[in-house]
Amino acid sequence: MNNSHYFFREARGEDIDSIARLESLCHKTPRLKEQLLCDFSSPYSLFTVIGTGERIIAYTCTTLLMDELEIHSLGVSPIFRSRGIGLKLLCKTIDLAVKRGMHKAWLEVRVSNLAARRLYKRCGFREKGRRKRYYRDGEDALVLAKII
Ligand SMILES: CC(C)(COP(=O)(O)OP(=O)(O)OC[C@H]1O[C@@H](n2cnc3c(N)ncnc32)[C@H](O)[C@@H]1OP(=O)(O)O)[C@@H](O)C(=O)NCCC(=O)NCCS
Repeated sequence: MNNSHYFFREARGEDIDSIARLESLCHKTPRLKEQLLCDFSSPYSLFTVIGTGERIIAYTCTTLLMDELEIHSLGVSPIFRSRGIGLKLLCKTIDLAVKRGMHKAWLEVRVSNLAARRLYKRCGFREKGRRKRYYRDGEDALVLAKII
């Protein structure tokens, strides 16, 4: 990945439309703009983005609670995948969370989501448990965590 082409920053209110668009491209059951706006307005939320030029191409929706970073959603625009952007976004978001006093990161991921599982493993997340039939369609979730 050529870093000079991409910027990373905390998301702003005006990014929510782009995040909602990406969410719908990246997830089977995307959260709608209204839900994203509601989550974004929480004092515990941290949303981050990667962009190029004027365009947002990747995002995370996370919360910082007590000393834990919880990653609720993360996605990279399909045409920008497999270029190291997901890994960069995850690492930079964790760096930001560490600067804000977080000591642990965790998330849930679909068992079938091998791309995301590989990304999280690459970033140092380890499997801590399994939630049976966690998703509405009956699929199990894996709980992954990492000391940060
Ligand atoms: C998961 C996702 C974020 C990965 O983003 P990305 O920018 O393509 O990932 P990167 O290029 O940074 O790759 C990071 C690691 O994941 C692996 N990976 C990425 N896509 C993969 C795929 N389709 N199959 C297998 N491994 C994959 C890469 O090989 C790399 O691991 P490696 O260095 O050990 O080879 C992206 O596929 C996506 O947006 N998926 C839909 C949304 C989603 O599933 N989000 C996560 C759950 S909330």
